[in-house]
Amino acid sequence: MNNKIKFKNDFSNTSIIIKKNFTSKYLKLLSNQNRKVFYVIDINVKKLLNIQLNENTNLIYLKCGENIKNINFYQKICEKLLIKNIDRNCILVCIGGGTLGDLCGFVASTILRGIDYKLIPTTLLSQVDSSIGGKNGVNSKYGKNLIGTFYNPSEVIIDVNFLKTLPKREIKSGYVEIIKHALIRDIKFFKWLENNYIKIFNLNTPILEKAIFRSLKIKLWYVQKDSRENLINKNSRAMLNFGHSIGHSLETFYNYKKINHGEAVSIGIVTEAKISNKLGYLSKNDLIKILEHFKKAELKILDKNIYNKKLISIIQKDKKNLHGKLNLVLLKNIGRSFFARNIDIRLVNKIIQNI
Ligand SMILES: NC(=O)c1ccc[n+]([C@@H]2O[C@H](COP(=O)([O-])OP(=O)(O)OC[C@H]3O[C@@H](n4cnc5c(N)ncnc54)[C@H](O)[C@@H]3O)[C@@H](O)[C@H]2O)c1
Ligand SMILES: [Zn+2]
Repeated sequence: MNNKIKFKNDFSNTSIIIKKNFTSKYLKLLSNQNRKVFYVIDINVKKLLNIQLNENTNLIYLKCGENIKNINFYQKICEKLLIKNIDRNCILVCIGGGTLGDLCGFVASTILRGIDYKLIPTTLLSQVDSSIGGKNGVNSKYGKNLIGTFYNPSEVIIDVNFLKTLPKREIKSGYVEIIKHALIRDIKFFKWLENNYIKIFNLNTPILEKAIFRSLKIKLWYVQKDSRENLINKNSRAMLNFGHSIGHSLETFYNYKKINHGEAVSIGIVTEAKISNKLGYLSKNDLIKILEHFKKAELKILDKNIYNKKLISIIQKDKKNLHGKLNLVLLKNIGRSFFARNIDIRLVNKIIQNI
């Protein structure tokens, strides 16, 4: 399998390498560069790493989760780097899940106005989604990811060996982003996933790497067309937010506790597919196929608070909305998404109440 992806960003280049058991070798290469390297590491992957210590190595460990994506942790890390005299020739290496990646990307892009950044994502979700596209940031009490920048790592190492210690719940969370990519752009990939999802859950390496590769390619297709999410058509990067208007609202509703990102997006995808059907875009047949797959794969499809009044008011605050009307990414078919603009909020509320 072709396991390398290279692409150009606004100001730099990124190389992605998908290679099992490559991390130790890669970390050795970094240690030998004669540059100071600052590693920020998720405590949950510490035991899987073998980092050679020398005078250039600096280690910071963090217990990760949505609660670290805030301005206090941002400041703490920056100060830990500054106290060690970080300079513009240093490298910041993030090894962990999507929450750590979002936080470290923000640090890397702002400390000394930007330093070299390498990313080693260790959850399935971060390997298939958050590791590319350059979005980073932290949450605020007003919503998710509201403070951040666009900044790309120069290298991303995807090593599926990390996934062997990842809880099943987190594997499923990552799978939701894979299926999202298929639903918005690639029906062939959706059919392939229908036949291969169990192998993905069982961490079959070639199947897993193929799913990661395809997922990243779909995400990149949008990112390269619309890196800053300026377009408002079917090529917009916003397509990647399918399932996220409702997903993010659920996460905000639960204050980023109780359900994880993938679970919230899973419920979001199912709900937004139902809205696509009720508004006359997605056929009953396609909706049933989606629902059947989510049920077979035992992904979350409903949450009792979907009917809560507070939820619809959170949905209204989404960054994509303008002038009190909803802008949602919806499906026309499996594999074909589009930007539905100026939808009446009361209509969406009515559909949600009858789900
Ligand atoms: N920037 C983007 O484009 C983008 C895209 C999608 C999602 N995200 C963000 O990603 C975040 C979710 O990321 P996530 O699902 O990776 O969550 P996470 O970072 O919270 O990781 C989930 C849990 O798994 C643990 N963990 C990580 N790697 C492990 C391993 N190999 N073995 C055992 N445990 C491990 C973590 O410590 C944590 O407890 C959300 O904040 C979401 O907004 C960002
Ligand atoms: Zn997501």
